[in-house]
Amino acid sequence: MDNSSKTDFFVIKALEDGVNVIGLTRGTDTRFHHSEKLDKDEVMIAQFTEHTSAVKVRGKAIIQTSHGQMENN
Ligand code: TRP
Repeated sequence: MDNSSKTDFFVIKALEDGVNVIGLTRGTDTRFHHSEKLDKDEVMIAQFTEHTSAVKVRGKAIIQTSHGQMENN
């Protein structure tokens, strides 16, 4: 696997209170391992790591990754 997949950062800006950023584990067992709650205008800067291969965002937010920016409504 290309090592950059574990060093990529992403940015999430909450557009409402109570946005959930949920980290999912890397490997054969895919499960939630961390949930972070953001209130409006809070920003989280995070990385894909050895432990985290996927992220689920629930709620209105702006999400920036190396693949571009999107808005979750
Ligand atoms: N301990 C986690 C890790 O190193 C922290 C983390 C990194 C995380 N990126 C995340 C948690 C994204 C939730 C979402 O993988």
